[in-house]
Amino acid sequence: MTPTRRDMLAGATASLLLPRAAHATPKTLTAKPGTAQLVPGAFDPTPIWGYDGGVPGPELRVRQGDRLTRRFTNALPHASTIHWHGIRIDNAMDGVAGLTQPSVKPGDDFLYDFEVPDAGTYWYHPHDRTYEQAARGLYGALIVEEAEPPWVDRDLVLILDDWRLARDATIEDTFGAMHDMSHAGRIGNLITVNGRSEHAELVKRGERLRLRLINAANARIFTLETRGLAGWTVALDGMPLETPAPLERLTLAPAQRVDLIVDVTAEDEALLVSLEQGGDFALASFPVDGEARKTRLPDTAPLPPNPVPAITGLDDALVARLTMQGGAMGGMREAWLGDEKLPIGGLVSKGYAWAFNGLAGMSDEPLMAVRRGETLRIKMVTDTAWPHAMHLHGHHFRAVGEGGALGPLRDTLLVARSETAEIAFVADNPGEWLLHCHMLEHAAAGMMTRITVT
Ligand code: C2O
Ligand code: CU
Repeated sequence: MTPTRRDMLAGATASLLLPRAAHATPKTLTAKPGTAQLVPGAFDPTPIWGYDGGVPGPELRVRQGDRLTRRFTNALPHASTIHWHGIRIDNAMDGVAGLTQPSVKPGDDFLYDFEVPDAGTYWYHPHDRTYEQAARGLYGALIVEEAEPPWVDRDLVLILDDWRLARDATIEDTFGAMHDMSHAGRIGNLITVNGRSEHAELVKRGERLRLRLINAANARIFTLETRGLAGWTVALDGMPLETPAPLERLTLAPAQRVDLIVDVTAEDEALLVSLEQGGDFALASFPVDGEARKTRLPDTAPLPPNPVPAITGLDDALVARLTMQGGAMGGMREAWLGDEKLPIGGLVSKGYAWAFNGLAGMSDEPLMAVRRGETLRIKMVTDTAWPHAMHLHGHHFRAVGEGGALGPLRDTLLVARSETAEIAFVADNPGEWLLHCHMLEHAAAGMMTRITVT
């Protein structure tokens, strides 16, 4: 029905008459069941869980330094929280069920209200039974705009996911299956971009795009290439590179992000391609319709740096060793679970398959308890036959290479099988901060510890 002039006037008056407080009511973000047309064609829409009922959830955009305020309401049949992945946040707002807040029960709500210190590409997802809740579709992009964003024609967010669907296009209800837990995690059979398996976006030749890629999959590591796009990687996990790197093949582990600034050079179609075992697979296509300009634009400048404390005291840093153990084809025979030492069979019967330093799951003891402002180094040794995507909450870190060379700022680092990796950061944010594998099944099955900063 078309609204009449009278309805419109009534609407206008109603909003003028709203009491002031109503305007200050925070916006809500509701986790609830919904549907999404993940598979095109004759299939019914897939029942999902999503923020505001959709997948991905609403794209949240704020300016650097602003506050983000959302009343989270839980309309799911399970308790949940929201974790703001990659945001160097006030600990009480970090959304970790049972650590930084009690999980929000069905029907309850929780007010998230925090300042966003860094510009860049971030995302949000639950932190309670994440391996099920994220796999059902609970995630969204959180974009923090620079005070002066780099000039582009268009800024596009592409959230990659990997679904495991049954033949009728419903989500396969095999969350937490021990085979997934102890191997590569829940690898799916349908890849989507922004909740669609066929993602297309019309572009013009010569247009300059900022592409913000987010890997929201439980466990799939993407290897990506572009065709008909030329440009640079400008940021990793939200954090600007000091110098934009010429665009090449990219690896995007679970939870990682990458920002690209690219020019459309294709004649008729540009592509974002995932290199899969079965061959190349177009994740997103950019059909070319017309020309934006004849001459190539000048090279993009680096994004302005975020206010992350510099690592200066590498030699005086506090050092911890983190040995990752367990999983299929691993040598782990036993591990502590709480105050019980269990053989591998006993761990598996309780849903655990992995350990850090001989401890499966969260223990009472943090990996490190440090004073605010200390520089920390964590040496990660993989004694497993699998790759892991190690994520630290509340801070960004740098990988430490040969001779102390520092890599770019990240919040999630892919550690290949049998590889040793070291990270360093200044623990400037007080609180209890998780350090875990972001292959969500690995985290649930034991790869989880924390760092206490006081
Ligand atoms: Cu994406 Cu513990 O987080
Ligand atoms: Cu892992």
